[in-house]
Amino acid sequence: MMNQQTRPSVNPLAWWKSCSIYQIYPRSFQDSDGDGVGDLPGLLSRVDYLAWLGVGAVWLSPVYRSPMVDFGYDISDYTDIDPLFGTLADFDRVVDALHERRIRLILDVVPNHTSDQHSWFIESRSSRDNPRRDWYVWADPGPDGLPPNNWLSRFGGSAWEWDERTGQYYYHAFLREQPDLNWHNPAVREAFADVLRFWLRRGVDGFRVDASAVLAEDPLLRDDPPNPDFDAEMPPTDKFKRVFTDIRPETMSYIEEMRAVLDAFPDRVLLGEVQEGFRHIGQFYGGERPRFHLPLNSLLLETDWDAASIAARIDQYINAIPDGAWPVWVLGGHDKPRIATRVGLQQARIAAMLLFTLSGTPIFFEGDEIGMPSSQISSEDACDPFEIRVPGFGLNRDPERAPMRWDASEKAGFTTGEPWLPLGDDVAQRNVAFERGDERSLLSLYRQLIALRQTEPALLAGDFRPLRSRGNVLLFRRCTRDRQLLIALNVSDGSETVSLRGGGMVRLNSLLDRIGEPVDSQLYLRPNEGVIAESCVPERANE
Ligand code: NOJ
Ligand code: MG
Repeated sequence: MMNQQTRPSVNPLAWWKSCSIYQIYPRSFQDSDGDGVGDLPGLLSRVDYLAWLGVGAVWLSPVYRSPMVDFGYDISDYTDIDPLFGTLADFDRVVDALHERRIRLILDVVPNHTSDQHSWFIESRSSRDNPRRDWYVWADPGPDGLPPNNWLSRFGGSAWEWDERTGQYYYHAFLREQPDLNWHNPAVREAFADVLRFWLRRGVDGFRVDASAVLAEDPLLRDDPPNPDFDAEMPPTDKFKRVFTDIRPETMSYIEEMRAVLDAFPDRVLLGEVQEGFRHIGQFYGGERPRFHLPLNSLLLETDWDAASIAARIDQYINAIPDGAWPVWVLGGHDKPRIATRVGLQQARIAAMLLFTLSGTPIFFEGDEIGMPSSQISSEDACDPFEIRVPGFGLNRDPERAPMRWDASEKAGFTTGEPWLPLGDDVAQRNVAFERGDERSLLSLYRQLIALRQTEPALLAGDFRPLRSRGNVLLFRRCTRDRQLLIALNVSDGSETVSLRGGGMVRLNSLLDRIGEPVDSQLYLRPNEGVIAESCVPERANE
């Protein structure tokens, strides 16, 4: 019998640390019935693609019953599937098909608010003494019948909506069709725990918690202070600093409660959409009472694209998370401009190399792997309620939500009908079929990076050692006791050279044409080229 000492260690990393996570926005992934909107049977027909790509988990944006005012982030029934997407049986089939391919499913949940069509809200607004009145945030008018305080909705105007029938206002952090649940009410928290259990029992492997930073509001309803950085160029929604609605201490304890629900099931994971930026991110991991496994970090989408800025952002983030916390990096999403448009198609390869070589869990968005651009949609044609209600500040999220391109056919293989959003530019070259046929495509690079990360201990769990970046080259190392990788990313369109202390070998390069090439004392980088090199140590590494 093997004792503790001799037992070989089988993959010591939790699945959510070792896998790459792929976000699917189901409206835009694959349509099966020709209505121009993606659905679950469509997704089911694409699971082999996900397996081929090598992702270990899917984060699925909401598929619950919804009036779709915010495209599913306004939920009217937490325990049913919207007919637009299919049925619960379709959902079960997706879970099974993913699990058969060893892919986990992380479901988006929206605890902060429901749709105004949810039965809980319909009851709550029916009368002041309804038992569910206190499930939402109701308040008497201020003087002159004005809203109770100065809180602003993120999606435009006051955060308070007048309810004529019962003579009070209700609070909504987002759209008026998205009333906030009252998380101070234990009955709400218990009902939500039941929602989580419903899906956990159905086999989901975890959740991405939407808008987790704004669960609790100040019970005194104190006014927010003016935002000192506010100017006329900024959307009016940013006029005040959201001191009394964001990251309240109670919110943190409610996240801990959610985590406890999850921890009663084996091997599940909790991702959290947290506040923008890095300043508060550490708190979302929790301490003795854990909060999220993976508080989402979108710094790579916010940084200026030069070596010093990227290095600084990485450093700020690593310093902002608690000692020993597992990092997480997000390269795209349904709320953010596309990386390929932000940094350009050439640098999109560098961004991908960065995503899969930094320490922590990589998350990317459907279509990033083929370099999908943000599609051009004018403000007048916007579907996104954010753009419609706060127009003219470049807030439209339709561009990143354009349908996935599977091939070069007229509707890109996405639908047989009229796609709900235009497909966007360059479909002929930027589609899955075309890029699968090109062994040096961006898609091929993604696939190789995912595979390399999976098999290379230095990338999976090695130390992250920053180096002084030289000019336009972002440099860092990933090391275990017996493995050393140098990552050198040229973020410019000129060539660069990195001097090394000793030679090594190219493990992977962003153009996929130097694999296995020996490296001596100089590592040459072509314009926009990134290299992962084995055993190379730069001169003046200062170690
Ligand atoms: C964050 C989601 O990612 C976004 O799409 C949505 O509009 C808001 N939360 C409101 O639910
Ligand atoms: Mg459909």
